[in-house]
Amino acid sequence: MTKLRVPDLAAMKKRGEPIVMLTAYDATMARIFDRAGVDILLVGDSLGNVILGLDSTIPVTLDAIVHHTRAVTRGASRTLVVADMPFLTYQVSTEQAMRNAARLFQEGGAAAVKLEGGRAVADTVRRLVAAGLPVMGHVGLTPQHVHRLGGMRQQARDEQAAQEMILDALALEDAGAFAIVLEAIPDAVAQAVTSRLHIPTIGIGAGPHCNGQVLVSYDILGMFDGFVPPFVKQYAQLGDVILNATRDFADDVRHGIYPQAAGARRDSVPLLISK
Ligand code: KIV
Repeated sequence: MTKLRVPDLAAMKKRGEPIVMLTAYDATMARIFDRAGVDILLVGDSLGNVILGLDSTIPVTLDAIVHHTRAVTRGASRTLVVADMPFLTYQVSTEQAMRNAARLFQEGGAAAVKLEGGRAVADTVRRLVAAGLPVMGHVGLTPQHVHRLGGMRQQARDEQAAQEMILDALALEDAGAFAIVLEAIPDAVAQAVTSRLHIPTIGIGAGPHCNGQVLVSYDILGMFDGFVPPFVKQYAQLGDVILNATRDFADDVRHGIYPQAAGARRDSVPLLISK
């Protein structure tokens, strides 16, 4: 299977082929998502919520994203791996952004980085792209700006805000971004942005008119019992599967059923320990 590359995404938009993107945080899940044919794996700063138990993405560090990106790239063979740049790792100066993005490529093995914001980060995007670092944009609800936005709420709800968002998206395209995530905006605004851009849009809570869709993997798998956004479709209830399997294991241990019942299988497996 040939590895998906950044330029393939523009070709997919041209062909009208929807782009499938999911978040991933470790090698085992990345391997499964890769086998399932996911196009892009995002090592999202949502790992703050679903992996680290934080209530926002703001405390997520660059070291954490580097660490998880390294794991995800080990598991992904076809899928393109994009690493999120955490809060305040790219806003201080373009030099800071360049140094930090370089770590995600060189230490993490990412093929691209994603950063939040529109015109405010366009110069930074331009510098990164000029240096050969592919950048994905992210506008609409940008969780790193939760305090300024006053909560995790839908954006671009009136005409003026929608026009501002379109300008943000156009500025990112002009700066060289290869795709843009549109988060939590009205369907009609996402459609307007998508039709004005040559690069693909990837929606999350932005309706059906984007060129692709992204969701947090823990949400679609039913693993995260915190807040589940209304636009999420849960394709499994793995949280319940894990809970029941764990309870069964605990019961077996407490009643002396495990490991005795597994003895036959254990005896048939050759020992790997050398003397
Ligand atoms: O961090 C993340 O998971 C994201 C996606 C929700 C787009 O940015």
